[in-house]
Amino acid sequence: MRSSEAPIWIPAGLDAGAGQGSRTDRPQQHADSNMKDKDRGETETTELRRIIRRGSSDVVTMERARDIANCRRREVTLVLKTFHTLKTQLDISSTGATNSTSTAIYNLHTQSDTMAGTGAGGFSTIAIIGAGSVGCTIAHTLMLRRVCAEVRLVDIAEDLCRAQVQDLQDATYLTNVRIKYATPQEAGQSDIIVITAGAKQKPGETRLDLIEKNYKVLGSVLKGLQPINPQSIILLVANPVDVLTHFAQQMSGLPKNQVLGSGTLLDSIRLRGLLAQRLEVCIPEIEDSIKGRPVNIVLQISDNSINAYVIGEHGDSQCVAWSSVTVSGAHISVIDEISDEDRTKIGKLVSGKANAIIRAKGFTSYGIGATAANICEAILFDQRPVYPLSCWHEEYQCCISLPAVVGRKGIVSQIPLPLNDKEKAQIEASAKTLREQIAKF
Ligand SMILES: NC(=O)c1ccc[n+]([C@@H]2O[C@H](COP(=O)([O-])OP(=O)(O)OC[C@H]3O[C@@H](n4cnc5c(N)ncnc54)[C@H](O)[C@@H]3O)[C@@H](O)[C@H]2O)c1
Repeated sequence: MRSSEAPIWIPAGLDAGAGQGSRTDRPQQHADSNMKDKDRGETETTELRRIIRRGSSDVVTMERARDIANCRRREVTLVLKTFHTLKTQLDISSTGATNSTSTAIYNLHTQSDTMAGTGAGGFSTIAIIGAGSVGCTIAHTLMLRRVCAEVRLVDIAEDLCRAQVQDLQDATYLTNVRIKYATPQEAGQSDIIVITAGAKQKPGETRLDLIEKNYKVLGSVLKGLQPINPQSIILLVANPVDVLTHFAQQMSGLPKNQVLGSGTLLDSIRLRGLLAQRLEVCIPEIEDSIKGRPVNIVLQISDNSINAYVIGEHGDSQCVAWSSVTVSGAHISVIDEISDEDRTKIGKLVSGKANAIIRAKGFTSYGIGATAANICEAILFDQRPVYPLSCWHEEYQCCISLPAVVGRKGIVSQIPLPLNDKEKAQIEASAKTLREQIAKF
């Protein structure tokens, strides 16, 4: 367990200011202090690879990682993460599998402009505004996945926030990720600022019902964060997420691509889970090569292999882009054969899932915790996955979810999704609902 205030043990050879101040103010410099970040990253990666190949992986302790990279105490988690990723990559290289994360982490160490640590102190930081159920679950997931070096928690309810930090600190022994109570100004200097502050739905309420309260909360949150680090990415999670993303783009002073909402990523994951559970994909055309007769192979497919998007509002007007559902890129007849009636039922199950959970337990948190942490990881490590996130769409004149590429600069590009006429009408109607809400303010 470690807190931001707790004294830290400094090994011989490292200055007492390690972890305080900027990357350039260390009196004790490594022999390769004149090396460029790229060269240092390559040296580090090569050294880590050599250790793994020698089979002495178990001896790579925190201290070893620190020596290898000559990095600051708070960056050690990133070195260890590189180590683990390289190890996984080398372990699976004989099977021909690749690991895109290792490339992203390598880039993280070697590209100064995409490097985590643009925040004060030269290490990666994620601030979470709102230390309620959702905010703390995101913090916990970020810590367990070692997405960043430090998580900063902020809440208007100071006692609650300090207690949440204390509780989360008890989990840091698993991860070595620092968690601290922060002021709004400190949060404003973070690499990513996740906004979960605000009222949540009561049973039967829609997300749009929250707009009056949460518009005000958003205004006060963004005011408190100023001056916001111009490199920060703001991720909206509080609802109604699309409308709040629109207002955050207007109020934050950041470029629009740096302000995005979690949108319908969670809904799309719910949809993929449902399809994976329900579909047994028969491929009668595959022949048993030994006996020369056709067989039915029933595949139970991982939801990760199903490409299916919920698009539009993260709310009641969302729709499923049925015409573009594929299994690993292939259109399969089983999907085409789902009747209109069943498609409507599946769509309702997806859009109504949050309310069903809220009726029983009062809130949802694990799904959004996982998806928000996943988006943060994609941003910090410049992974560039295609996710349906809420961002500005010129065509619809609002923030709405359609597939977009997410990386260190936020929304990197938007991917056009082929839609049939029915889907086009549905997303236009969804955008109209959002524009009407925005027009009220
Ligand atoms: N986008 C999604 O998929 C998704 C999923 C689940 C929940 N949510 C939304 O997330 C939000 C939070 O939900 P929750 O369950 O954590 O609610 P919660 O009530 O448990 O937590 C909200 C926290 O925000 C804090 N807060 C309020 N005003 C603040 C301010 N001005 N500054 C700082 N903190 C402030 C409160 O003190 C509280 O601790 C809700 O709007 C909810 O609808 C979104």
